[in-house]
Amino acid sequence: MVYVNMFPYWNEVKYTKEPFAAKRLKQAMLCFISLGLFFCIIPVMACADHDEEHYMKPVSNPVYKQVCGACHFAYLPELLPSGSWRLILDNHGQYFGTDTGIDMNTKDAILQYLIGNAAEQSRAKRSKKIMKSIRGNLPTRITDIPYIREKHDEVSSDVFNRKSVGSFSNCVACHTTAEQGIFEDDNVVIPK
Ligand code: HEC
Ligand code: HEC
Repeated sequence: MVYVNMFPYWNEVKYTKEPFAAKRLKQAMLCFISLGLFFCIIPVMACADHDEEHYMKPVSNPVYKQVCGACHFAYLPELLPSGSWRLILDNHGQYFGTDTGIDMNTKDAILQYLIGNAAEQSRAKRSKKIMKSIRGNLPTRITDIPYIREKHDEVSSDVFNRKSVGSFSNCVACHTTAEQGIFEDDNVVIPK
């Protein structure tokens, strides 16, 4: 008995082996679950925050990219509301003096993609600013959106007309991350 009293901990382990092991298992499981929560849920939340709330989604439709990216930057759907995209697809030839030569099925597929991802449904910060600034109007150019015009107030027409830029419509000339949907001023490099 003296032996047992001197080592009470050993005594407990020895005579309560099952409950002790069960307690340990429970602790291990709790630990595993909380670690799982931490490593799965937190990064997913951070990611959602990053991509959807702040930035526009890059173009994900290969047909749109190929057909509408043939002459200029394939503009991100979130740069205009769906009403604008309808007008543009109905009138592109007439508006811009070029015949895009696309068949009706392709045109329909492109329109579905554009209106399914248009600015009014976007959670991107800049799409919200675009929607606010057009005040219900449906511009057929991104470069006609008041918010976009204001942001380029200080860029002179000489700069837009540079050979290396071409025009205001050529977003990718200066916005190095435009294809990724990022228009942060930190990523602007105006070519010489
Ligand atoms: C054959 C060449 C060509 C193709 C193909 C083409 N575009 Fe264009 N697009 C142009 C030209 C040229 C302009 C601009 C003309 C100007 O600056 O006045 C333009 C301008 C635009 C603009 C306005 C840009 C701005 O200044 O804000 C949008 C939006 C646009 N196109 C969308 C599309 C979509 C959507 C498609 C696919 C259905 C498409 N384009 C296919 C030639 C083309
Ligand atoms: C000649 C180069 C050039 C072209 C072309 C250009 N931009 Fe910009 N953009 C700039 C500059 C410079 C700024 C201002 C950066 C600053 O505020 O410091 C800017 C700002 C912006 C901003 C606001 C960024 C912010 O942080 O507030 C948006 C959005 C934007 N541009 C979108 C576009 C889109 C869309 C196009 C194409 C239709 C385009 N830009 C074409 C140079 C350009």
